[in-house]
Amino acid sequence: MVADIFRLNLDGIQIRRVRYSDLGDVIFVNRKTLPENYSLQLFLTMYRNYKDIFWVAEDVKRNHVIGYCMNKMEYRTKSFFGNQKVTKGHIFSIGVLPDYRRRGIATALLAFSIKSMIERDCSEMFLEVRVSNEPAQKLYKKFRFEVVARVPRYYADGEDAYIFAVKKEVVEPIIDHIIGKIHSLKK
Ligand code: ACO
Repeated sequence: MVADIFRLNLDGIQIRRVRYSDLGDVIFVNRKTLPENYSLQLFLTMYRNYKDIFWVAEDVKRNHVIGYCMNKMEYRTKSFFGNQKVTKGHIFSIGVLPDYRRRGIATALLAFSIKSMIERDCSEMFLEVRVSNEPAQKLYKKFRFEVVARVPRYYADGEDAYIFAVKKEVVEPIIDHIIGKIHSLKK
């Protein structure tokens, strides 16, 4: 039984897979929300290779993407929890525009992202986050991600990163709970 600690107010918001025509909005959200502003080439490559695990949140009335979660697969790399080689889901970048925060949009984006990576046989998910980014860390802890490493000077400005990771068995019941809740809200 998963504790119901997830507040969701997704009225007027659609969570769906990315489309090619969303990429301009995704880049806008990335520029507004994060200092890590990737090249157009990077977004295009992520779209081409991983569109089935790349999710967006759209404000349906305004017809704009207001949040995204861009992910990639990593095959046969060493587990964070043992010595075996595993397939990992890498939560590469997530952002929600400031006016839309604290409504559960990142929660929903993460839930659908992780679900789609588990469907592609990931046994672990992981991400990097600035050591100073407490809001994002709180979000990941709700999904039972834990710190598995600290990478000195990971970011261009010299800040360290934490690597957060979670095993599929730990996160899957949480994801199913959130997605079930989203479906019941729609009824
Ligand atoms: N302060 C404290 N806790 C927070 C905050 C905050 N500002 N924001 C989220 N949380 C925690 C809370 O526990 C929250 O639940 P609650 O509202 O019931 O207390 C929970 O996370 C879920 O929050 P959501 O509403 O789902 O998150 P939101 O849609 O607001 O988006 C995000 C969170 C993505 C971190 C947003 O603040 C953002 O875009 N920040 C800037 C970009 C960023 O930091 N991205 C992550 C970088 S790391 C990476 O990309 C892998």
